[in-house]
Amino acid sequence: MTNWIEPGPVMPVIVLEDAGLAVDLAHALVDAGIFHLEVTLRTASALDVITRIRTAVPKALVGAGTVLGADQWRRACDAGATFGVSPGFTAELGEAIRKQAIPFIPGVSTASEAMRAMNEGFHLLKLFPAEAVGGRALLRALHGPLPQLRFCPTGGIGLHNAADYLALPNVQCVGGSWLVPQHALDTRDWAGIGALAREAVALRRA
Ligand code: 3PG
Repeated sequence: MTNWIEPGPVMPVIVLEDAGLAVDLAHALVDAGIFHLEVTLRTASALDVITRIRTAVPKALVGAGTVLGADQWRRACDAGATFGVSPGFTAELGEAIRKQAIPFIPGVSTASEAMRAMNEGFHLLKLFPAEAVGGRALLRALHGPLPQLRFCPTGGIGLHNAADYLALPNVQCVGGSWLVPQHALDTRDWAGIGALAREAVALRRA
C-alpha cells in the first residue's frame, strides 16, 4: 500500500456544489500545470464531480478529499477517484484503505499520529490543520526524528506562505482552497483560476 506518484508543488482543495462546472474547472487547472485535483466529499455533487473529471479530463489525476469513513472511501473509488486524502486517520479508515489498491494520503497533526501512519506504510501524509497545529515550526521539528516522512500541509496556506512551506525538506506539496476561490466559481472565471494556478505552480522549488 499506499503512497504514490508525487503531487506538487500545489494541490487545490476543491469544494464544488455544481457538478456542471467540474470539467471547465479541471481544464483550467490542468492547462495551467496542476494535475492533482482534490475534490472534497463535502458537497452532494462531489462523487459526480469526480466521475465527470475522470471521464472528460484524462490528464487530470482526480482524488477524493475529506474522506472520513470506509463507506465514503468505497463510493469515491467506485466514482473513479485515483487517490484519497483525509483530514485524520482512524482504524476504520485504515482498514478500508487497505482493501483498495489506490493511493491515499492520511491526515495527521502530531508525532504519534505520524508514527502510526508510518507504521502502516504511509510515507506521504497530510498535515492538517497546518497553521493551527504549528505549521512550519512543527514540520521542521518532525523532520528530526521522522526524516523519512513527507508532508502535504493544508489549512491556512495561501500564496503568502506557500513558498516558505515548500522550502522545507519534508514538504512534498501544499494544498488549499485558495486555488479555487468561490467567487471565481460563481463568475465562471476560468481565466482567473488559471492565472492563480500558474502563479502557484511557479512556486515550485528550484
Ligand atoms: C482542507 O480541507 O484541506 C482544508 O480545509 C483546506 O484549508 P484551507 O481552506 O485553509 O485552504
